[in-house]
Amino acid sequence: KSMPVIAVDGPAAAGKGTLAKSLAEAFSLPYLDTGLLYRAVGRRMLDAGLDPATASGEELAMALSPDDLKRTDLRTPDATRAASLVARDQAVRQALVHIQRSFAAERGGVLDGRDIGTVIFPDADVKLYITASPRTRAERRYTQTGGSETGPDRETDISKVETALIERDKADATRAAAPLRMADDAVKIETDTLTAEQVLTEAIRIVKSVL
Ligand code: C5P
Repeated sequence: KSMPVIAVDGPAAAGKGTLAKSLAEAFSLPYLDTGLLYRAVGRRMLDAGLDPATASGEELAMALSPDDLKRTDLRTPDATRAASLVARDQAVRQALVHIQRSFAAERGGVLDGRDIGTVIFPDADVKLYITASPRTRAERRYTQTGGSETGPDRETDISKVETALIERDKADATRAAAPLRMADDAVKIETDTLTAEQVLTEAIRIVKSVL
């Protein structure tokens, strides 16, 4: 096929972004981090003094611009919380469907998120579900964000990251609108014992076997 769509879903901090970016490069496809869309809407709500838990983000979602996705404050803890809250809103999700589908319409693409294989591209050419234990994901996130390799607070800090990840996964998996779940026809990659490079090799093998 000439314009394949590859869906990369899974829980928070499983390495979806790293994998999806490398896959896009390997197959010369455009890459979209769909979490950024929800983060940008959440951020705009906070800017506007709106509570993402209660107010509607629909209008902001409809008015989202490419510049909103380039903001440098989309990965802060408050933007992360706001993203997960606005992501529960079906009207917000609906407003973002078009952006995601049209992104891959002409040249295909690799999209990472929570509902790419289940809702956005149910007919994706390849569906990958990337996961790892909460502890592994927390350790990776902790290291990525500059946590120290040793020290008295390491264990406590990793535990805090792990608690926040578990909480966000639970919210994402139990919401009514497009909950996080593995598509029936997705291929699961458990990454606990794999390096990023090994995950990429496995993913490339899967993609090649399907395309
Ligand atoms: O992937 P990332 O951690 O940046 O996503 C932030 C939040 O956005 C997630 O916790 C989830 O609530 C939401 N999200 C979503 N659907 C997607 C991507 C992200 O609901 N496709």
